[in-house]
Amino acid sequence: MRITVLTGAGISAESGLATFRASDGLWENHRIEDVATPEGFARAPELVHHFYNQRRARLAEVAPNPAHHALARLARMHDLTLVTQNVDDLHERGGSAEVIHMHGELTRALCAACDHRWPAPAVMRPDDPCPACGKPTTRPDIVWFGEIPYHMDRIWDALDHADLFAAIGTSGNVYPAAGFAQHAARRGIDCPELNLADSANSRDFTHRITGPASQTVPQWVASLTAT
Ligand code: APR
Repeated sequence: MRITVLTGAGISAESGLATFRASDGLWENHRIEDVATPEGFARAPELVHHFYNQRRARLAEVAPNPAHHALARLARMHDLTLVTQNVDDLHERGGSAEVIHMHGELTRALCAACDHRWPAPAVMRPDDPCPACGKPTTRPDIVWFGEIPYHMDRIWDALDHADLFAAIGTSGNVYPAAGFAQHAARRGIDCPELNLADSANSRDFTHRITGPASQTVPQWVASLTAT
């Protein structure tokens, strides 16, 4: 069976990483527009680098949870395209060999001048030179609001050929990812939503599996591998 799975911050919540849209609307005490837009970076590069340096350091303190491990098992049983909005590396550390990071990766650096990419050092600073072109134009390889997500051709193609689409732990607020369920459901395939609560686009799914991802995802995967 061909399966496409989209994951969001909720799958990493039980590993100890904060989601984006907590009730106070802040991400780790920062306004999203300050730390997740090109304008915010242009205004205050020190602050934005510091913010992502902290997120990168936090990654080293957390571990994948049973939901990440279950998706790695799913890939061994079915033809899985795993798409994540998350910039953490918990899918990879949970055993998933191929992960499409549509919003970039905390562990990668990007040169805004020449587009060169390389493994991010633990601490990035605004005046770090790009290892390829030497310009001090390095930034986290994160897709900010107003920028185009990565690998979209591959993702739409996977959705067009999937027999099943599931979204796990995403609030359905950010497009294009928030449109995947409607796109897939129009093709008449099964589209479960796995989430702790209703999301902004719950009605686009064929059914909902409610609960914490560390419990619902292993159960859902077991139900698929048993058939
Ligand atoms: N199990 C399952 N779902 C959970 C859990 C859990 N333990 N904890 C939280 N959730 C759900 C919440 O109910 C919510 O619907 O995860 C979702 C998290 O939503 P957001 O914080 O909005 O995260 P996400 O949807 O991934 O955000 C999308 O927005 O800020 C940008 O680029 C950023 O990739 C991010 C994008």
